[in-house]
Amino acid sequence: MFRHTGRKLVLGGLVVIGLGVGVGLAATPEEQVGYRQDQMKSMGKAIKKVFSFVKNEGGTIADVAAGAKIIYGVSETIETKLFPAGTAVGVDDSAAKPEIWKEWDHFKELAGGLEKASEKLMTVAVDGADPDAVKAAAVAVGKACGACHETYKMKKD
Ligand code: HEC
Repeated sequence: MFRHTGRKLVLGGLVVIGLGVGVGLAATPEEQVGYRQDQMKSMGKAIKKVFSFVKNEGGTIADVAAGAKIIYGVSETIETKLFPAGTAVGVDDSAAKPEIWKEWDHFKELAGGLEKASEKLMTVAVDGADPDAVKAAAVAVGKACGACHETYKMKKD
């Protein structure tokens, strides 16, 4: 029941954001997978920028803040929009394990973990920030990505 409601929300949400990304009310499971992977990729790009700064390889604290904001924004949609039922492995090149929907509460916790970690990174990534605090917050974000991937993302080789 909950999931059913969730799914309706998902579709409703996609209509709004869908304008820019080509995913609308009639989004097929394949399109939903593509949209999800695009959103994940945008977090991938964002975290690269964050770590580039943390490792002294370029970028500014403003880039870290912007990256954290992107990650936070996507993390908020993981539970509500990115994983509609019927988009597990087998649909297009989805690497989403079926366990996600069987262990939905745990999956939601991991999504919530990323939300918290990226929110923290947003708050520490300010001018004159303590580099150690920024690093610790960035590492926590990285761990939150990894925790979910280890359990719920199929390895593609
Ligand atoms: C709550 C679970 C969860 C969290 C948290 C999470 N991911 Fe993912 N991610 C997945 C799953 C599941 C897939 C596989 C999706 C698919 O193939 O449809 C995935 C796929 C990806 C991909 C591959 C996309 C593609 O093109 O196939 C990238 C890149 C990625 N995630 C980056 C990140 C980054 C960076 C973070 C943290 C900032 C993160 N993810 C956090 C579950 C998660």
